[in-house]
Amino acid sequence: MTTAPLQHLALIMDGNGRWATRQGLPRLAGHKAGVTSLNTLVEALVRQQIPYASFYAFSTENWGRSVEEVTGIFALLEYYFTQELARLKAHNIRLRFLGDHSEASPLNPRIRAIIANATAETAANTGTTLLIALNYGGHDELVRATRKVAASGQEITAQTLEAALDTAGVPPPDLLIRTSGEQRLSGFLPWQLAYTELYFTPTLWPDFGPAQLDEALAWYASRQRRFGKV
Ligand code: IPE
Ligand code: IPE
Ligand code: MG
Repeated sequence: MTTAPLQHLALIMDGNGRWATRQGLPRLAGHKAGVTSLNTLVEALVRQQIPYASFYAFSTENWGRSVEEVTGIFALLEYYFTQELARLKAHNIRLRFLGDHSEASPLNPRIRAIIANATAETAANTGTTLLIALNYGGHDELVRATRKVAASGQEITAQTLEAALDTAGVPPPDLLIRTSGEQRLSGFLPWQLAYTELYFTPTLWPDFGPAQLDEALAWYASRQRRFGKV
């Protein structure tokens, strides 16, 4: 049995803080290097014509970090989805955001407007779709989806729930990559990752580049996906 072509890659970008600490730099320097790494990797994904890629950028639990770190991360995210938007558009990238971005969320109006604008500005693009998980939590997503189905009066089934998820219409990830040596999901896409191949690498996110991506893709190509069958 051969592995079907990869449709959707999910990435947990972890290890920015440790990368900085190891170099005697403040944690924020690690997040800055992480954005550079993200830029490089996005270009590699576009080159490889990967249809969907999901990136875990900020979890609902990450609010528990210091105000200084949270503020710094959001400044970088704002920079990325405004200053880098033209470049993403030039690559024919479509942006979608996963997570709670409602008025009731802890996101400030500025970042909410940036999310809405980046989504609208790239909606008609036909290249790689980037799904950015921002104020995303797996439990939160499932609760929001279940409430949506219940409020619509539909029966709760796997299909109605799936259609109410933040990833509606997107095939589930084939491969998940987590950097930094941690072997856990930390709340990322619990429904969607049910049958995903899981790849853990000790490389820290700022050091994860196209060569490391190729290694992960080669590993994926060697997997036998059985989906419960023989
Ligand atoms: C991942 O790097 C980025 C975010 C969670 C926003 P970390 O900041 O978690 O880096 P480590 O895990 O502390 O090294
Ligand atoms: C997961 O990394 C979240 C993101 C990469 C955005 P964390 O660093 O927050 O996860 P834990 O705390 O090690 O589980
Ligand atoms: Mg971490």
